[in-house]
Amino acid sequence: TGLKEAYKDRFLIGAAINTAIASGKHPDITEIIKRDFSSVTSENDMKWGSVRTADGGWKWEAADHFMNFALQNNLHAVGHTLAWHSQIPQSVFKDRSGEYVKPAELIKKMEEHITTIVGRYKGKLQAWDAVNEAIGDDNQMRKSHYFNVLGEEFIDRTFHLAHEVDPKAHLMYNDYNIERPGKREACVEMLKRLKKRGVPVHGLGIQAHVAVDGPSIADIEQSILAFAELGLRVHFTELDVDVLPQVWNLPVAEISTRFEYRPERDPFKDGLTQEMNDKLSSRYEELFKLFIKHKDKIDRVTLWGVSDDASWLNGFPIRGRTAYPLLFDRKHQPKDAYQRVLAL
Ligand code: XIL
Repeated sequence: TGLKEAYKDRFLIGAAINTAIASGKHPDITEIIKRDFSSVTSENDMKWGSVRTADGGWKWEAADHFMNFALQNNLHAVGHTLAWHSQIPQSVFKDRSGEYVKPAELIKKMEEHITTIVGRYKGKLQAWDAVNEAIGDDNQMRKSHYFNVLGEEFIDRTFHLAHEVDPKAHLMYNDYNIERPGKREACVEMLKRLKKRGVPVHGLGIQAHVAVDGPSIADIEQSILAFAELGLRVHFTELDVDVLPQVWNLPVAEISTRFEYRPERDPFKDGLTQEMNDKLSSRYEELFKLFIKHKDKIDRVTLWGVSDDASWLNGFPIRGRTAYPLLFDRKHQPKDAYQRVLAL
């Protein structure tokens, strides 16, 4: 038995799965998922840019594979995501001359998009990361194309549309760095405004792309409490632990321009040192201890991937680097961190 059994009376334990896993191309990973995970999130295949063609049509193959994988293996399934500024064509927001479309036009596109995709998987997906990353690194509302055309109303519309089509789906607001005080406060304030306007938001997703040395357990705990206090269920939606400590406290945009990959400066190019592997294991252990402490508020903890070889952090935010952020190594073997989390 694995994590799934160990955590069944605590919270769901999930993994994001990529296109290859969802279409059954990695049988050994499928076996890991069956043993260790009770929930799956679509890593890329349900994003706007993945399900739509250039001319606004639909392509369902990969998203359907994800949905069938979840159904066949009896997994709780999370759709990701309905409104996000990234991995979506510019043409949704701008006309040919580069001008923003009128608010009514964007609203029409959102209506078509959200009612179609939520309707297709109604009764099959249990939850949606409805709106993703609407707050910027400056702790103000992100000046995304969505926001520039519709203001904060794009958030209200997304939740209302999804809720109308699938009233049983659990709808979440999802964001990163909201374990840190400044962005946490901005997020709490935004959620209060949404609640006041009667927007059907049911859950809060803390992405939790964290590092070995931060954010602190105290900060993460403050966020669990602050979001639960608003009457929302708390989810850790994209957990992974970066071993590059200098990276996590810089805005992502800065990191990619500031750091160029120099293999000779990468201490973990050919593998983790024992010391760093121990740190990683301890970090996972302290995180899961905190989650277990607050299991009454937390519905789910999802890792952003199963094994290190498939992690999005290979090459991000620094192109070319090797990452070790998950519970299974590059050969799909359970790491020491896995054993520590299993033993809790
Ligand atoms: C990432 C995927 O893991 C990558 O494969 C893709 O190239 C880029 O997007 N926050 C999110 C996720 O909400 O959608 C992102 O996923 C990781 C950061």
